[in-house]
Amino acid sequence: MRSFISIAVTAFSLTQYALGGPINGPQSGRCPPGRPAKALYFQTNLPTGNSVVAIPILSNGGIHTGKWSAFATGGIGSAGREAENATAGPDALFSQDSVIVQDNMLFTTNAGSNTISMFRIDPRNPTCLTLVGEPACTLGEFPVAIAYSRRLRMACVVNAGAEDGVTCFSVSARTGLKPLDKSARKLNLGQSTPPLGPTGTVSDIFFTPDSKSLIVMVKGDPPTNVTGFVAVYPVQNGKVSSVPVKSNPTGSVALFGSSMISNTDIIATDAGFGTMKLSLNPQTHEVVADVKTTIDGQVATCWTAFSPKIGSVFVTDIKMNRAQEISTSSGKVVSALNFTNGNGGNIDNIVGGDFLYSLSPSTGKVDIAVISLGCGQGQMKELGTFSIANGANQFSSGIAIYN
Ligand SMILES: *[C@@H]1O[C@H](CO)[C@@H](O)[C@H](O)[C@H]1NC(C)=O
Ligand SMILES: *[C@@H]1O[C@H](CO)[C@@H](O)[C@H](O)[C@H]1NC(C)=O
Ligand SMILES: *[C@@H]1O[C@H](CO)[C@@H](O)[C@H](O)[C@H]1NC(C)=O
Repeated sequence: MRSFISIAVTAFSLTQYALGGPINGPQSGRCPPGRPAKALYFQTNLPTGNSVVAIPILSNGGIHTGKWSAFATGGIGSAGREAENATAGPDALFSQDSVIVQDNMLFTTNAGSNTISMFRIDPRNPTCLTLVGEPACTLGEFPVAIAYSRRLRMACVVNAGAEDGVTCFSVSARTGLKPLDKSARKLNLGQSTPPLGPTGTVSDIFFTPDSKSLIVMVKGDPPTNVTGFVAVYPVQNGKVSSVPVKSNPTGSVALFGSSMISNTDIIATDAGFGTMKLSLNPQTHEVVADVKTTIDGQVATCWTAFSPKIGSVFVTDIKMNRAQEISTSSGKVVSALNFTNGNGGNIDNIVGGDFLYSLSPSTGKVDIAVISLGCGQGQMKELGTFSIANGANQFSSGIAIYN
């Protein structure tokens, strides 16, 4: 995998921005720039052997496509099905958070081998990853998303296939993942392996920031009248409960990738119309709709990235080549930016430093659009698009950064 060549394609060249003035927009003179993140990661999710691609981030927020490395996860990837027999991809996993980073650890799903892998990140050289222990069995099929709690030192994975459900592991930076469960907490979605989607599948898993709840988002399937839901597993005495509290927020259709913006508030995407601000009751663990936002012209808004500094969540649509900015306070759209790289749409995205990184996989290459976020709301500006060629593919999924 190390022999892959890579090509940098920039719609807006770095030099142009470096020479042409500040890259943080009109306010940049008045706001101290945040420290850029140091590295970016995604998984190839290849059915022939999964790898995590690690790419250095430059001091101006751009990424160094000439210096990326790939690290075998010890597992294999897979892709869901869309309509009968059509292989899904991009968005092969129908999920957000298939790759996550916490502290000096990276976790990735291996959807085709029903395992998750854990890597140690070298803080001095964050594109250097070392596998910790063996890939761990997820006690289910087609794992698509992972959550980690620093307080609990626990990772939990959600399986989306015929054997679905949530399984948790204790995490040791030295020895890796140790199973905490004998079987998965079933969601009973009646899916196949690989699952048929994108509707009617698992979307995301994450802890509340206070680690008092573990939350799973599941999409409804409007053609079959199956409603989606939010499953909240209370955490008590350091244990994730076996039975969730399920809610069906009024007006939701196909809840997808989501970000916690506080211990009780969620900005969720909904592929059916745009976004929803949801509210978790920490006593009853029920989740209700707060603000429903319809995004004009959207086809399938599915991924979120939260910037606490700006107070916005940025969302992407697999069929629209743009990012929309949602205010965490109002839950409404405050700005939008069309990308100029000619791609059809974007999947997983993440905020690192003052930049948004947005993944757009296709058969020959994986593009990562880099958007400068400026100092406040409404300042998105395109820095450029960087391509990873050869070995990258339409199944590539997940995005994570090391700060
Ligand atoms: C899908 O595959 C199955 C099994 O190979 C086959 O029986 C079926 O006809 C296929 N359906 C379509 C629409 O191609
Ligand atoms: C879904 O619900 C509608 C309205 O109640 C009904 O007309 C339709 O037949 C249902 N579809 C399925 C597949 O059950
Ligand atoms: C962005 O693109 C959409 C069409 O996809 C168009 O309606 C809109 O006007 C564009 N916005 C800007 C600011 O160019």
